[in-house]
Amino acid sequence: MKDLVFDLIKQEKVRQSEGLELIPSENYVSQAVLEAMGSILTNKYSEGYPSFEGIPGWEESQIAEEILPNYRYYGGQVNIDRIERLAIARACQLFHADHANVQPHSGANANEAVYFAWCNPGDKILAMSLPAGGHLTHGSPVTRSAKIYNFISYGVAADGDIDYAELESKALKEQPKIILIGYSAFMKIPDFDRIAKIAEKIPDCILMADMAHVAGLIAGGVHPNPLDHGFHVMTTTTHKTLRGPRGGLILSKGHVASPLKKPEKTIANLPILIDRAVFPGTQGGPLEHIVAAKAVAFGEALQPDFKDYATKIVANAKTLATELQKHDFILQGGGTENHLILINVKDSFGFDGKLYEIALDKVGLTLNANSLPTDKGGAFRPSGVRLGTPAITTRGFNQNDMKTLALWMKKVANLCKKAYAKSPDSPESALDNFSDEFEAIHEEVRTLALKYPVPGI
Ligand SMILES: Cc1ncc(COP(=O)(O)O)c(C=O)c1O
Repeated sequence: MKDLVFDLIKQEKVRQSEGLELIPSENYVSQAVLEAMGSILTNKYSEGYPSFEGIPGWEESQIAEEILPNYRYYGGQVNIDRIERLAIARACQLFHADHANVQPHSGANANEAVYFAWCNPGDKILAMSLPAGGHLTHGSPVTRSAKIYNFISYGVAADGDIDYAELESKALKEQPKIILIGYSAFMKIPDFDRIAKIAEKIPDCILMADMAHVAGLIAGGVHPNPLDHGFHVMTTTTHKTLRGPRGGLILSKGHVASPLKKPEKTIANLPILIDRAVFPGTQGGPLEHIVAAKAVAFGEALQPDFKDYATKIVANAKTLATELQKHDFILQGGGTENHLILINVKDSFGFDGKLYEIALDKVGLTLNANSLPTDKGGAFRPSGVRLGTPAITTRGFNQNDMKTLALWMKKVANLCKKAYAKSPDSPESALDNFSDEFEAIHEEVRTLALKYPVPGI
């Protein structure tokens, strides 16, 4: 009997093909990544790590492929070890790291493992606040980490950049164990050197960058790499601009050795501390089908055409930002330097981000309502929306298409304005008065979308 899930996946394929994915944290993976994820590697348990110990030049992939002793708790690891070593070697090459832990199940797990590796309960961590653009895992009170560690937050200045003066004064006053630079809704390029200079003044403070959003831009050479600018640790998800499977990754500088020996808590030992914090500290068995898919994706990102992809993501985002501004959209930070755009919907058109998200969904344009730094709470009805270009750039959309996209977005904004004027208390239901107009735009979106196939469909 055919499972209902089969039909639902088929319907999702139609939705993905006929619509445009503008959520900046999403992307379309290659057929090769999909195949690795769906492989028989899911059958295998492999708690522990493959060994590189004592092997000079281990980061070269031919050594990564050799059969070596391991630190595993189950037998039958001959192929798994070689796959995981490849993933590690490729990640190190891609991000100029001494060590990579490819096992975190997600970006949240990667961050939690780093906190656990370096901090004791109650230690201070300085991170960007959620409304300023930081991520939930950077100290939001609803998370487990925030109940264990003492998060202090910095924000952004009026120009949308990090408030470096605030960051410095809080760092010097609070003496945190970690200064964390990372974000989910921030459009500037951080000054990593400036932050590294601040951290030098604080004993035992490590610099951590959560580059989940821009990892693909770093890999493609269009965004600075924090590990080249004095940062000790970088975490990322593997599924956003990096275009790999859903998962996490931790990269670090330092001394690579056996995770079995209990190391001293020194900055040089960070790679071992991190390995122990991932397993057995915060996770059990790794998902080796996902590790294999990460290895495939890192291999793809090491190819010369990935630089071209990363360049086009940013070019598309900048063009889209300019086109939106021509249509009276007010953008947080005045535009973008990366793949991400944050629209101040409220100041632009008078209605909130949630209404706009719902209306855009009706025409096959998917993005998410998002708080602005000026929003006070109210995550369900924020004033902004967040969008980005990684996924549409994977499909091949170009700067000319960004003009069309901006025009559709303006038309939808106009319909929202009318719905809001008709019924300010329940504008969502008033959207139904404009079904024909929405369907006409949806048909245009569908026609253009189908010209650019989704990889793997
Ligand atoms: C900056 C940042 N860190 C961490 C995460 C968490 O990643 P995951 O959803 O894989 O746990 C995200 C996800 O959006 C993110 O944007």
